[in-house]
Amino acid sequence: MTRLWKITKQNIHGEEMSEAGSVLRHGGTIAFPTETVYGLGADARSTEAVQNIFTAKGRPSDNPLIVHIAHRSQIEELAYAPNEAVSRLLDAFWPGPLTVVLPVKPGALSPLVTAGLSTVGLRMPDHPIALQLISAAGCPVAAPSANRSGRPSPTLAEHVREDLEGRIDGIVDGGPTGVGVESTVVEYTVEEGDAGVLHVLRPGGVTAAQLREALPGIEVRESSAHLSEPAAAPRAPGMKYTHYAPRGVMSLVQGTAPEQVLARMQHELDAAGARGERTGALTYSEHAGALRADHVVACGSLGDLETVAHGLYAALREFDEAGVSFIVGEACPEEGIGAAIMNRLRKAAGDRVLLAD
Ligand code: TXA
Ligand code: MG
Repeated sequence: MTRLWKITKQNIHGEEMSEAGSVLRHGGTIAFPTETVYGLGADARSTEAVQNIFTAKGRPSDNPLIVHIAHRSQIEELAYAPNEAVSRLLDAFWPGPLTVVLPVKPGALSPLVTAGLSTVGLRMPDHPIALQLISAAGCPVAAPSANRSGRPSPTLAEHVREDLEGRIDGIVDGGPTGVGVESTVVEYTVEEGDAGVLHVLRPGGVTAAQLREALPGIEVRESSAHLSEPAAAPRAPGMKYTHYAPRGVMSLVQGTAPEQVLARMQHELDAAGARGERTGALTYSEHAGALRADHVVACGSLGDLETVAHGLYAALREFDEAGVSFIVGEACPEEGIGAAIMNRLRKAAGDRVLLAD
């Protein structure tokens, strides 16, 4: 049975949170809100507990999990001390949507968490409920997004219930999440005789521009573009799987002139409609009126891409509810948070990108 705790400012220090913390401490699986998406947590030291995450999600076990902590001092028990550059990132972005990959201390975590790597991704979420829950549990909490593997990540407790009700021990419902896309995953490497490079392994809530501003003089390499090239071994192992995908077949239309992009989208939608598909268009508030489909979803505003990040996963889930079998999405500019949005859209579309000019 999956228990449900509704948490607000009023009861965040109450009995419900101690109960949820105690379930985690005793090896249970609990979904909880963070500032990015809902996570599915378990005691990161216990292989039995972590195995239950993989089973509930149906997640391949070669994909390592992010470990969530409530205090920076917890790093010490799990990983070797961050160098100066990484420390500066923690000063700038913790708590917040940044995961840092560090060399793991042997024996500190279940080997299932790291999927056999010698490193671990650590993150301190910027959400009062997440921080309170991790503190109440009194252990490092391994937590991937709380969706069935391959589905869009959950930004509401309702999404978690759709995917995982009956498969996990509890859900802490803290309302909608904020950022809407997952944390940025980074790893700092120093190659011989070089000043060091910060690799962005997964674009997310902290933008490349923000990272550069925090690390003047250090190269920030956005490797995500290369990860889609089959020749390149993915550095964040999770990046190689189909992700965030609605049930219908999705493609993206990209181009520099909006009229041409919309025309190409409409052409694809009309052709699919004529074949008898139930069609969906994923667009932005500025363009929603210009498209005809069985289901048109405006996912935030192009004028403020943070609204798009916030609404993206709920929008993808909406197509499933509407029984849409064919989806055309409109690409957005890859600036700022747009890099993370386009990364998720490409994955949802299985890399089917049509160029409109
Ligand atoms: O915002 C988030 O990060 C959310 C919330 C719940 O905190 N969590 C999340 O976890 O997105 P998950 O498991 O869905 O994604 C973890 C990502 C994957 O791409 C994985 O490959 C990468 O982080 N990762 C984890 N540990 C790693 C490591 N040691 N080295 C490289 N990549 C790692
Ligand atoms: Mg995920």
